[in-house]
Amino acid sequence: MLKPITRSERRRVAFPKVLNVSDLRQIAERRIPRVVFDYLDGGADAEVTLESACRVYDTVLFRPRGAVAFPDCDLRVRVLGMDLELPFLLGPVGSSRLFHPGGEVAAAHAAGEAGTTYIQSTLSGHRLEDSKAATRGPMCYQLYLLGGRAAAEKSIERCRNAGIHALFVTIDTPVSGLRERDFRNKIKQLLARNVSSIVPFLSQFVTHPRWLLSYFADGGLMQFPNVVLPSGPMEYADVSVALEQTVVTWKDLSWIRELWGGPIVIKGVMTSDDALRAIDAGAEGIVVSNHGARQLDCVLPTLRVLPEIARAANGQIEVLLDGGIRRGSDVVKALCLGAKAVLLGRAYAYGLAAAGEAGVVRAIEILRGDVIRTLKLLGVGSLAELNRSHVELPWEWERDAHASQGRPLLDHLKS
Ligand code: GLV
Repeated sequence: MLKPITRSERRRVAFPKVLNVSDLRQIAERRIPRVVFDYLDGGADAEVTLESACRVYDTVLFRPRGAVAFPDCDLRVRVLGMDLELPFLLGPVGSSRLFHPGGEVAAAHAAGEAGTTYIQSTLSGHRLEDSKAATRGPMCYQLYLLGGRAAAEKSIERCRNAGIHALFVTIDTPVSGLRERDFRNKIKQLLARNVSSIVPFLSQFVTHPRWLLSYFADGGLMQFPNVVLPSGPMEYADVSVALEQTVVTWKDLSWIRELWGGPIVIKGVMTSDDALRAIDAGAEGIVVSNHGARQLDCVLPTLRVLPEIARAANGQIEVLLDGGIRRGSDVVKALCLGAKAVLLGRAYAYGLAAAGEAGVVRAIEILRGDVIRTLKLLGVGSLAELNRSHVELPWEWERDAHASQGRPLLDHLKS
């Protein structure tokens, strides 16, 4: 299943041509057809939240300590009982197999080699067992209830048999966000899976012959082999309706917890109320996430809500964050504000689209190097030393923090 990295893929993303994630994004944009790139790159509605997702990191500034030497920086962190070599995990990115045939298997392998974990999406094109077999690290699985409880029960059973470490249950998708780029690009027509469906895309496909060849060699449009219905694996075209029919609610969480028995992480927490609910529901962790700005537009950037959520969680649950991470300094800022670790999404997916596994490896290398350099420049020898004193927040963040202090956080649950 796992194809070795080719020399040309390695060269395409090598130093010094590729210095940062934005360079990987540019290569991805050239290598894959517009309809696929926009699916990866785009956000919901007017993309207001997408716009602010990365910019918010620029508003948090560092306060370094000088004249300290740390020849080695310790990046190890224990997340949900997993000992990781890096403070970032590879998060679930739907349809990764469309970007490159290696897809989820390549990402899982790269994560394991780097000493971190891969979280495979329900909406993935490779079987979770194949990704798990490809990685030497621990692996997690992101769960939607697509196909209803019967289908989810089968997926959970497969996760257990495959040795999946934790389930990440996404709670922010009662309906698919309106991704206007996808709509205008007529992505639904592409996903219809009939012979004529690719006709409108021929011009962008023939201008990307290498992608096109690998797409057809890989069997054309992927299905979702981890969502097995009585009729077979779920088809791409059925996903939007299926999501609406199977909204995950807090009631489902106790059902999932009983069935699964292992660690559960609630992904999509944007308020301290939901963080407390997740604690109540017995989750081991939460991901502060707005789904890569692909669901509700005009929701706050995740870094902005992290301090209040970390304060509410008060060490009772592990707090992770995703959204907008493009540099190692972004990772460090999130850790200073209370995240135990972060999830990468587009940061590695651009690499996957640019050059398969070689691109994922390069994204990880870039971020690892950035984190080490940032720690050294901050005068910090290990992640555990990072705290609020290493960053300066915009004044209105501090004002809001003071205003909310002492306010009961979850009145309706207490009454
Ligand atoms: C899937 O979860 C997506 O955001 O496309």
